[in-house]
Amino acid sequence: RPPPSAYVSALLNLTALFLVMTNTTDKLPSNFLWGFATAAYQIEGSWNEDGRLPSIWDTYAHTPSKIIDGSNGDTACDSYHRYKEDIALLKSYGVNAYRFSISWSRVIPKGGREEEVNEKGVKFYSDVIDELLKNGILPFVTLHHWDLPQELYERYQGFLTAFELVPDFTRFARLCFERFGDRVKNWLTFNEPWVICALGHAGTGPEGSFAPGRSSNRDLSPEGNSDTEPWIAGHTLLLAHASAVQVYRTDFAKQQGGQIGITLNGDWAVPYNLEEPLDHAAAQRKLEFSLGWFADPIWHGDYPASMRELLGDRLPTFTEAEKAMLKGSSDFFGFNHYTTNYVKHREGPPEHGNFNGNVGLTFTSKDGVDLGPETGLAFMRPVPWGYRALLNWIWKRYGAPIYCTENGMCAKDEGSLPLAEALNDTPRVEYYKGYLNAMLEAVVEDGVDVRSYFGWSLMDNWEWCSGYGPRFGVTYVDYEDGCKRYPKESSRFVRGWFEENISK
Ligand code: NOJ
Repeated sequence: RPPPSAYVSALLNLTALFLVMTNTTDKLPSNFLWGFATAAYQIEGSWNEDGRLPSIWDTYAHTPSKIIDGSNGDTACDSYHRYKEDIALLKSYGVNAYRFSISWSRVIPKGGREEEVNEKGVKFYSDVIDELLKNGILPFVTLHHWDLPQELYERYQGFLTAFELVPDFTRFARLCFERFGDRVKNWLTFNEPWVICALGHAGTGPEGSFAPGRSSNRDLSPEGNSDTEPWIAGHTLLLAHASAVQVYRTDFAKQQGGQIGITLNGDWAVPYNLEEPLDHAAAQRKLEFSLGWFADPIWHGDYPASMRELLGDRLPTFTEAEKAMLKGSSDFFGFNHYTTNYVKHREGPPEHGNFNGNVGLTFTSKDGVDLGPETGLAFMRPVPWGYRALLNWIWKRYGAPIYCTENGMCAKDEGSLPLAEALNDTPRVEYYKGYLNAMLEAVVEDGVDVRSYFGWSLMDNWEWCSGYGPRFGVTYVDYEDGCKRYPKESSRFVRGWFEENISK
């Protein structure tokens, strides 16, 4: 006869099995990471202080007529001087993690693999990391949030020259692992490659063009070829990502105990006409040309078949060795998401200058009915159910744990409201309520493995080509009054939501 303790342990095992099978929890796991995100150029300012040299975004913003309000990130939110205040805010919002990026040209001003390290720049990020940890906040660090050192663009056109960019980026990454990896355990190589490649190398106009501003449209750019350059840039970026990950895994990951991934942006795509098979195919293609462009090589070893079919040899090819290096080169799927579009079939391969609807035409309304209410950016309508749908799509296609690294909204005309009204940001509260609940449903009802959520953004900041107009922050920044910060209602809402929805 078995001893009584055997019955007890059998009973406990059965109970545990029952709990897992019936998924009795309707909450996020207790180790879920949450917080807010920012990027260096959008918040730091101090563009030429302590040895920092320009990135392509400094140059681009300093060029007349590129930025809608003629502004630039010279001062931005002045976070270079106010980072302690930012971290105090994060602490008061109750977060357990903070996502920020490192300005490459602050730590290696000229960017290249032979070039000097700027110790003052290194010290800045080291201090930020220490301050975060002192306050019980985990640093989640992006290596490249679009601010390529200007010098590297001038020297070899940045992402258009793989054999230079790959070793230069790898050296920058190695330096960050060496100097910060004892304290940073979560790394992202690149933020939103699609934006770098499509908007930076096939721009369509002031709001559709990002640094370095290359385009086939000679009114916009003296050089560039949008038929080929976005795909070349993407190819380089993927190889640079894989190379940095290889260095991390070989020389750092085990000793330091951290993980590394990439973060991709994607909108959910809904067939415009549900009865039309061509629209269904177009919606699927749209996802493959945005997320799949980078995720397929990383999880499946090569570009999606639909891209090869439509682009032919405009799309570069990987060698077998490169495929092997790429496949499995991300410990998790970093995911930025904002909105949903209808997609309608369009004949033919992607054309230059037609990147937003490159394999179909996108719409935010149908039969006079909008997909969601208007926000400060016309193409970003809140559609919470699209978040759940796309989280499911990613989970099914790639099976990787998902880290939501950005989600949020810019309320229409918030900057022109009296301060008290701007701080009572009901539309943003509604946005977060909808999207957070949609994410929760994906986790508890659909079984999608989501492990983090970062709201964009900790504070209002410089929104690239759209300047200071669109405000995405849960903190209001008064640019007219020395960048004073004021918490908005949404900061309280998000905090309360996570207090309620993370398992204790
Ligand atoms: C994507 C980017 O990563 C971030 O820099 C930008 O400000 C937000 N989305 C909002 O557009």
